[in-house]
Amino acid sequence: MERDVTQRMFFALWPDEEVRAAIALFASALPLRGARPIRREDLHATLVFLGSITRETRHALECAVDGLGRRPFALVLDAHGWWGRPQVLWVGASTVPPELAQLVAGLNSAAAELGLKTDPRPYQPHVTIARKASQTAEMSAFQPIAWKVADFCLVESITGSGGAAYCVRRSWSLTT
Ligand code: 2AM
Repeated sequence: MERDVTQRMFFALWPDEEVRAAIALFASALPLRGARPIRREDLHATLVFLGSITRETRHALECAVDGLGRRPFALVLDAHGWWGRPQVLWVGASTVPPELAQLVAGLNSAAAELGLKTDPRPYQPHVTIARKASQTAEMSAFQPIAWKVADFCLVESITGSGGAAYCVRRSWSLTT
């Protein structure tokens, strides 16, 4: 029997050029000490990680997301740090705007309705800037980055010999 093809997917906020440049500038000043920096074009904030899903599940999920309420919001990236267990350096937001909390809750329940397992931990908006970081870097002064979030997307992560490549497969505007 032919096995169902799956795609490894996640919902994310993809920064505009200005925000991307500001995050990349901060990341470029870090003493990495062996950590692997995230490519500038790959910088993003994951909303909900879905794992490997079938095309059928993806289609049903997209239909459910089409029906979600959507409102734009401002996200202030005003924090940075290191998480030891996933070994990542990140920049993030200390405050979760209610519109973002609502969006993440909607995406999580759409995924759960389809039987997908999602992260039960409280949502912590962050952009990973380096992986395999074994210790916190002494971070330079950090100017908060204001991000006007006007859309979100469904992204496929394709694992290759050079690591994961991210492909935005679908976007939803928050302003219409
Ligand atoms: P991170 O950047 O915060 O580590 C694609 O792998 C994206 O999904 C990454 O941005 C990663 O978050 C996020 N993600 C969340 N949970 C994951 C998991 N269990 N496995 C892989 N990626 C996960």
